[in-house]
Order: sequence, then C-alpha cells, then structure tokens
Amino acid sequence: MRERRIALLGATGSIGRQALEVIAANPELSVCALASGSQPLDALATKHGVEHAQVGGDVVELLDATEPDLVLNAVVGFAGVGATLWALERGVTLALANKESLVAAGDLAMTAWKRGGGLLLPVDSEHSALHQCLEGHPPQTVDSIVLTASGGPFRNRTADELESVTVEEALAHPTWSMGPKITIDSATLANKGLELIEAHYLFGIEYERIEVVVHPTSVVHALVRFRDGATLAHLGYPDMRVPISFALTYPERRATSLPSLDFSAGLTLEFEAPDIERFQLLALARAAGERAGTYPCAFNAANEVAVAAFLDGRIRFTEIARLVEDALEAVDGGPARDLGELVEADEQARRVTERRLALA
Ligand SMILES: NC(=O)c1ccc[n+]([C@@H]2O[C@H](COP(=O)([O-])OP(=O)(O)OC[C@H]3O[C@@H](n4cnc5c(N)ncnc54)[C@H](OP(=O)(O)O)[C@@H]3O)[C@@H](O)[C@H]2O)c1
Repeated sequence: MRERRIALLGATGSIGRQALEVIAANPELSVCALASGSQPLDALATKHGVEHAQVGGDVVELLDATEPDLVLNAVVGFAGVGATLWALERGVTLALANKESLVAAGDLAMTAWKRGGGLLLPVDSEHSALHQCLEGHPPQTVDSIVLTASGGPFRNRTADELESVTVEEALAHPTWSMGPKITIDSATLANKGLELIEAHYLFGIEYERIEVVVHPTSVVHALVRFRDGATLAHLGYPDMRVPISFALTYPERRATSLPSLDFSAGLTLEFEAPDIERFQLLALARAAGERAGTYPCAFNAANEVAVAAFLDGRIRFTEIARLVEDALEAVDGGPARDLGELVEADEQARRVTERRLALA
C-alpha cells in the first residue's frame, strides 16, 4: 500500500480516537491534519507528529492547506458538510463517519461525487457492511438491503415509560460505546433514520427497497437480499475499529488485532420489526427522505437541536420526536441548488425548532 496522508476531522471524538489507534497500527498511514470543535489538540499533534491542527473554524481551510490523500470525516453533525463536499468535489478519498453531512447535503454530495470521481468509503458499520456485501454484484441483481439496529436501551419500554427516561439511561447504549449525540440518536432510532437516508444516497437504492430490522446483539451489521433468493450478511463483534480500518486501508483490508467471531462462546441472532409507533423518528426520517428536497436536511437540523435540548435537560426524551415532526411540517423543504441554500434550509429548521422549544 502506498503512503496515505490522512486529514482526521473530529480527532478528539469517539471515532477520531479509534482512528488514531488504527493509524498507529499501519506504518503506511500518517496524519497530516487534525481538527476538533473546541477541545485542544496540542497533545495529540505532538504525540502523532502533526504540524497542522485546527480547533474550530472552517475545516475547508485546513484541507486546502494540507492537501490530504484521504479525509476521515468524523465530525459530528451538520458541521461536517463542508469537508464532505470538499473531498467529493476534488476526488479525494473520503472515509465518511459523519452521516449527517450525507443526509443533509445528499443531492449536492452526489453531484460533487460524480464530478470528483473519487472513492467514498462509509465508516458507519452498517454501510461498511453493505458496501462489502454489494461489492462486485451488478445493481440489477440486488433485490433489497437491510440495516440492522440494536434497538437501543429502550427497546422494551412502553410508550408511557419512554416519557420519563433520563439522560443517563439514554446515554447507556447496550452494544456500542459512542459520542453523546449518536448515542441519543440510537436510543430514539433517529440514528437508523439517518442511516436509511445515508444508504439511499450511498448505494442509489430507493427507500422502499431499504428495510430496517431490530437485532439486539449488533453482530449482524447489514444484509443484502438478491433476486435469486440468496441473502448475504456481514457479521462481526460490534467494534468501530473494524470498519475504520477497512476504510483507511481499502482495498487491502489490512489485519487488525481484533477478534473475529467465536462460535464456541455462543451467538444470539434474533431479529424483529422496529416499532415505529414508539420510535417515531424512524418513520419521520423515512418520510423526510421520500419527500426529498431539503426535508432530510430539516430532519437532521431539528433533530440536532432537539437532542442538544434533551442532553441539557430542557425537554423530555419523547419531545425530541415531537419537535422534529413539528419542524418538518413548518419548513418549505424545497431543493437546495448550492451550499448557501442548504445552509439556509438548515438554519430555517433550527430556528423553527428553537422557537417551539422556547414555547415548551
Ligand atoms: N461513535 C461511533 O461509534 C460512531 C459510529 C458510526 C458513525 N458515527 C458518526 O461519526 C461522527 C462522530 O461521532 P462520534 O461518536 O465520534 O462523536 P463525538 O465523540 O461526539 O466526537 C465528535 C467530534 O467532532 C468534533 N467537532 C464537533 N464540531 C466540530 C466542528 N465544528 N469542527 C470540527 N470538529 C468538530 C468534536 O470536537 P470537540 O471534541 O472539540 O467537541 C469531536 O472531535 C458522527 O457523525 C456519528 O454519527 C459514530
């Protein structure tokens, strides 16, 4: 493998820290740029011998200055849009953890990807799994794709019980250890909704051919059904270092020190349909995706505002879905022709949600 100079955006986060482990284990991988939102980067930059480190501000300037071979976008939220478009437009390999950017900027990102012609490698475990199951199979042979969801910590709570869950309970994910925003998204199933839209754009598959299924142990990451009746699945213990390593060393699939499945220890593979009455954000995301335009952007923006309000103790868990539903009804949702219009759509949905929050 040739040397790869990586811009690691979101270096202080859960994905960022695990990526640094993967990079340290592969001599051909090096970091040429580090970015965070507000946490200092001096210690990380010194430890990894990185000259360019940026806290806050526009990451596009950092990317222009360092010209990486690969961008690992592990920023959380809409703040990652600029970096995603930068890499796709220039044909620079993009390892994408920041699903929000593809959800919010889906159409613009697809146009930029086509123009740039580079590689877009998903880091999200389900999408990495789908990429691997789909690779080498002509699109017409694919019947449907299936995303698995752990169901989060509240899978067995009644609608009434969901009204009173605490922030601490929502932050205790049963199978994955992740940053706070995605952990709450996993508890509401908004995360699976974002992933549904992400899969639609990444693999060019219509929404009615993308299924979500609850699989509590998170061992099966995704499945692809083919037209001949066969189904391929991707299995592994839930550990993000596997899809991170896959993306950073693609197509060589370098070795990791992580264990593969041990059948003698037993394996539970159970599946059930998600309950979209209790977890409405999944249904709201699907509807926003199908309406297209900037509805997915509005879904994402309203969800970001609502999750932050829940984490701050300003609203109840169940109010997240209500706020997102209200925002989707209030915005105009027309398509964005450029980044400026997308930012406007994002801001409109945030304003609407903030206004509802102020009234709550
Ligand atoms: N964690 C997982 O297992 C996992 C799995 C699949 C997908 N993802 C996706 O990966 C992304 C990151 O998730 P995470 O769990 O790693 O989140 P996290 O632990 O909260 O980390 C987020 C990172 O983004 C940085 N950041 C925030 N705003 C920024 C800005 N304006 N400019 C530059 N950097 C900024 C943060 O910097 P500060 O520390 O300074 O705030 C931090 O380094 C999310 O989109 C998530 O959905 C995560």
